[in-house]
Amino acid sequence: MVGNWKLNLDHLQAIDLVQKLAWTLADAKHDYDLTEVVVAPSFTSLRSVQTLVDGDKLSIRYASQDVSSHSSGAYTGEVSAEQLAKLGVSYAIIGHSERRQYHGEAEELINAKVAAALGAGIAPIVCVGESLEVRHAKGHVPLTLGHVDGALAGLTSEQASQVVIAYEPVWAIGTGEVATPEDAQEMAEAIRARIAETFDSGVANGMRILYGGSVKADNVAAIMAKPDVDGALVGGASLVLDQFSAIARFR
Ligand code: G3P
Repeated sequence: MVGNWKLNLDHLQAIDLVQKLAWTLADAKHDYDLTEVVVAPSFTSLRSVQTLVDGDKLSIRYASQDVSSHSSGAYTGEVSAEQLAKLGVSYAIIGHSERRQYHGEAEELINAKVAAALGAGIAPIVCVGESLEVRHAKGHVPLTLGHVDGALAGLTSEQASQVVIAYEPVWAIGTGEVATPEDAQEMAEAIRARIAETFDSGVANGMRILYGGSVKADNVAAIMAKPDVDGALVGGASLVLDQFSAIARFR
């Protein structure tokens, strides 16, 4: 279960929420060793979260919300995978629809970011998914599979086995219009089949495929019950302790 905090919380608020989330999950005596709980704070909070998580030995991992495709050099404002790895970051969200939309991120750049993350030992969480127009035109499966192909182009099976795919239909992000469990299953199944075709069944069966888009405590169970959905990438609800701790109980 991954919480994408987007542009919210300063580092003090971030460590407060991480601490409370860890306590809440521990109190629930929930075996969340089986459920990997990941939070993705802003870059400015990563060092503080690392200090807290490492210091208190919390079973919460953390992710960055982006990563540079470069490892060093004249790239003002960017943050490299190597720098993030030094902060104990386990995952990097790459190709989020908001970056595709607001920053014009295309397949080639997303693929380079995936390679950069893998090169530093960080697991990419690659976001894929269609707009409402594409869904209405019934082009959602080929478009989303094109995102998958683009992001994973040139990877070895070993590299691909490190990647997490997050299907986030753009029309469900931040809208309250959650996809139906059947929509989520249809796409997760199609993505897994494409991974088997491109790599092999071992990579496909082991790949974690998440759903994201208006996931809340009252809709997560039905989506997680689908066989090819392995977890969720949660935005707004991950900023609310009782919402995210309820959601995080699912695998
Ligand atoms: O990355 C997850 C995010 O895009 C989903 O946002 O607020 O619809 O859960 P939200």
